[in-house]
Amino acid sequence: MTYIKTILIFAPSLKQKINLFDNLKRKIIMEETNVTYQMPRIGDTAPDFEAVTTKGKIKLSEYAKDKWIVLFSHPADFTPVCTTEMSGFAQRRAEFDALNTELIGLSIDSVFSHLAWVNNVRENTGVYFDFPIIADIDMNVSKLYGMLQPNESTTHAVRAVFFIDPSKKIRLIMYYPLNVGRNMDEILRVLNALQTSDKYGVAMPLNWKEGDNVIVPPPTNLDEMQERIDGDYEEKVDFYLVKKKLNN
Ligand code: BEZ
Repeated sequence: MTYIKTILIFAPSLKQKINLFDNLKRKIIMEETNVTYQMPRIGDTAPDFEAVTTKGKIKLSEYAKDKWIVLFSHPADFTPVCTTEMSGFAQRRAEFDALNTELIGLSIDSVFSHLAWVNNVRENTGVYFDFPIIADIDMNVSKLYGMLQPNESTTHAVRAVFFIDPSKKIRLIMYYPLNVGRNMDEILRVLNALQTSDKYGVAMPLNWKEGDNVIVPPPTNLDEMQERIDGDYEEKVDFYLVKKKLNN
């Protein structure tokens, strides 16, 4: 209050008053951010929520049991970059299905807005967003997942992607700003990499894609080191950097 009075009395011009008010507003948002917004981390259990979506109500902890989930946000319905991204998810749906993965979209819009947008895109392009889109009008899920990043926007979710495994653990997180669309090949690549790593107990090198050699985890004792030195591998730089072919 004292701060507001000081602004009103001492800031000489209207422009300076507005600037000072903006700074105050930003400060309050940031303080609120520290208290109430959280950023989930890799390895955390995905924060649970119940939400209204275009496919009815969803409770995350009870949704898509035994499947992976890709939960992604977009800033707003009826905007160009978002339309290309949502269309990308819809058009590559079969590849997500093949990876045993369900999609859940989100934006801070009402379900009526979502329905109108889904229908509009279908009428204009033939692409149908046939997966749930959360109507996060109260920003509950956006706040839980750190999708609201106030220095980027206080009203639109950033472009986030959460890769959640069947045990509901967060395995990988992407955050993109409002003005740069995501890369669908990369989203599918990392999903496949996570699942391949889990299945075979291997790690994925730079730019790994399906069919490439994979990294044998580095040795953690002398026996394993000797095994790497003596073993016949597809590629070997030294005992700590060894690659093998996956025999599916
Ligand atoms: C877009 O999707 O085009 C967009 C949305 C919000 C801010 C900027 C761009």
